[in-house]
Amino acid sequence: MAKVLVQFKCNSCGYTTAKSMGRCPSCSAWNSFEEIVTAPSSKSTSGFGARSNVPSSAVTRLSSVKSSEEPRSSSGIGELDRVLGGGWVAGGVVLLGGEPGIGKSTLLLQVADHLALLDEKVLYVAGEESLEQVRLRADRLGVKGDILMTRDVHADGITALLELERPKLVIVDSIQTVQTDDGGSPGGVAQVRESTARLTRAAKETGAAMVLVGHVTKDGNVAGPKVMEHIVDAVLMLESVGHYRLLRSVKNRFGSVGELGVFDMLEHGLKAVDNPSAAFLAERPVGVPGSIVAATMDGQRPLLLEVQALAAKTPYPAPKRVAVGLDARRVDVVLAVLERRLQLSLGGLDVYVNLAGGMRLSDPGLDLAIALAVYSAVMMKPVPEGVAVFGEVGLAGEVRSVTQPARRASEASRVGLTRLVMPPGVQGGKTEGVQSVQEAVRFLWGKP
Ligand code: TYD
Ligand code: MG
Repeated sequence: MAKVLVQFKCNSCGYTTAKSMGRCPSCSAWNSFEEIVTAPSSKSTSGFGARSNVPSSAVTRLSSVKSSEEPRSSSGIGELDRVLGGGWVAGGVVLLGGEPGIGKSTLLLQVADHLALLDEKVLYVAGEESLEQVRLRADRLGVKGDILMTRDVHADGITALLELERPKLVIVDSIQTVQTDDGGSPGGVAQVRESTARLTRAAKETGAAMVLVGHVTKDGNVAGPKVMEHIVDAVLMLESVGHYRLLRSVKNRFGSVGELGVFDMLEHGLKAVDNPSAAFLAERPVGVPGSIVAATMDGQRPLLLEVQALAAKTPYPAPKRVAVGLDARRVDVVLAVLERRLQLSLGGLDVYVNLAGGMRLSDPGLDLAIALAVYSAVMMKPVPEGVAVFGEVGLAGEVRSVTQPARRASEASRVGLTRLVMPPGVQGGKTEGVQSVQEAVRFLWGKP
């Protein structure tokens, strides 16, 4: 008689082993192993004549495969279309991640309304809230479209509804509430993975664009298995910066990653911010030392942000170095360059550097802004009006080129900042570039 094969499989990453372990050596998840029993297949895979040499499927030449642009349908929200790479794709599955309360359900209800008003079928699977709660939110948002609702959270039930109703868009809020019959606790990794796989198959088969809402744990992972991210076509993350909400594409089979959409959370839902650079600079103090505008790139999007620095005398022998929203090590390097190459005395000064508005960014192009903000703060010289800066700072104090200089420069002039301090050789720049931090200081404040 053939032997039954007992193995242990990590339900987080799928790592398989002959004996159970407390911690998965592949993905470091704890207590994630479950026993799987593989019944012997009737066709033995080993031995004589087990597998013939006849391939089970024919090969296709890549050159003979027709390339087709995915037909897109607009979500009705420009900022969302941008992050999706042009709109919804039929059969495409998008995972929308974000902390609870960030506005995922709000955004999706607004999107559902847009399609429903165009007489398209939209199915909303309300797994988290009662239909009455969804209705309350819809009233608050002024939703007029007739959206199909269900509270059926069984993966097979949703699949059946997709086949019956053939909606253009289906929203599953959230994937953690979807169940399958295969055992495992609801919301547990095994259930979430299996539900994702089944719903993805259903979306592909019925041609519905699908959004799966996924809650994010504190460390920024979509709760549940990482493998979920491999199954879906796109992963979007919603995060908050003050009252703004940033939507990013982390993975996208239909577009580029690193796209950024900016929304404002208002009383009646999320509203796209048309000019994020202007919005982020709105509260910038004028004529105050230590404040400068940096032309940065957040992924694929140019963004103007204010870098602030403050230097304060301290009696303590080890002065503080505090970086908020910026890479602390980059700030340390820039401070060392200022001390050694510009003879700027920072001993005895606490130095605080801050990316204003609660943003977090680790763009090397921020270096020059950090250097000039600290210089401005220490020397108590405000930065002249109309200035935007970008550039990486090397250990010799040289200003080095960064990604997308032309897009940074044009974003700056779009909001009226035309005096650019940037690396040399940028095409289309109005101002000549600077070779070093010293030269940048001379450019802004003249000979010391
Ligand atoms: P919600 O979409 O329920 O978040 P999620 O689905 O990501 O958990 O958003 C909840 C928060 O948004 C809640 O704190 C109230 C706020 N909100 C507004 O500020 N304006 C609105 O129009 C709506 C509907 C919600
Ligand atoms: Mg919600």
